[in-house]
Amino acid sequence: MDENKSFYEINNKKFKIFIPAEKITQRIKELGFQISKDYSGKKPLFLIILKGSIFFASDLLRLIELDCRIETISVKSYGNEMKSSGNVEVGMASNIDFTGQDIIIIEDIVDTGTTLNYLINKISEYRPASLEVAALLVKPEQNKYDIKVKYMGFEVPPAFIIGYGLDYAEKGRQLPDIYALADE
Ligand code: IMP
Repeated sequence: MDENKSFYEINNKKFKIFIPAEKITQRIKELGFQISKDYSGKKPLFLIILKGSIFFASDLLRLIELDCRIETISVKSYGNEMKSSGNVEVGMASNIDFTGQDIIIIEDIVDTGTTLNYLINKISEYRPASLEVAALLVKPEQNKYDIKVKYMGFEVPPAFIIGYGLDYAEKGRQLPDIYALADE
């Protein structure tokens, strides 16, 4: 691998490469195939959680061989910190009709699960036909709510992650590979 890609620095914090782009692409192919198969004959509604899942969603959705709808909402729980604030700020689009729909939430990473727990409860009030989660990364040790992620890319340890849409203080999102905070 290109040595320049091994580390990335943001605000004096050093991040080490953790999942290379090729591995991400391969795993997303598998997820796209699985979702297309599971929802065959259905018209699911994919709900993209901005901004972290932009690349995951755009790569995954282009592999979906279904008649589907795509909606976006913005959610924030981290601010500029490396720890979840515990408060979820949701720009919930009131014009999305979830009732009777097969919904798949597309999330970048499930950490404490606070964000998804909030969203799942909120969307469930609209009585969708089904509601599942596709998340690129899951930190199982952190999950406080027992969130079920049907379509998971990778399990990761509790380290802080950047790249492929994930940011630290709004930096590092553009990186094609995924990096984890190196030991200090
Ligand atoms: P949760 O509500 O604690 O599950 O956190 C979910 C949200 O926090 C994700 O959608 C991300 O935006 C952000 N987040 C959680 N862990 C990380 C991380 O390691 N790096 C960057 N953002 C993260």
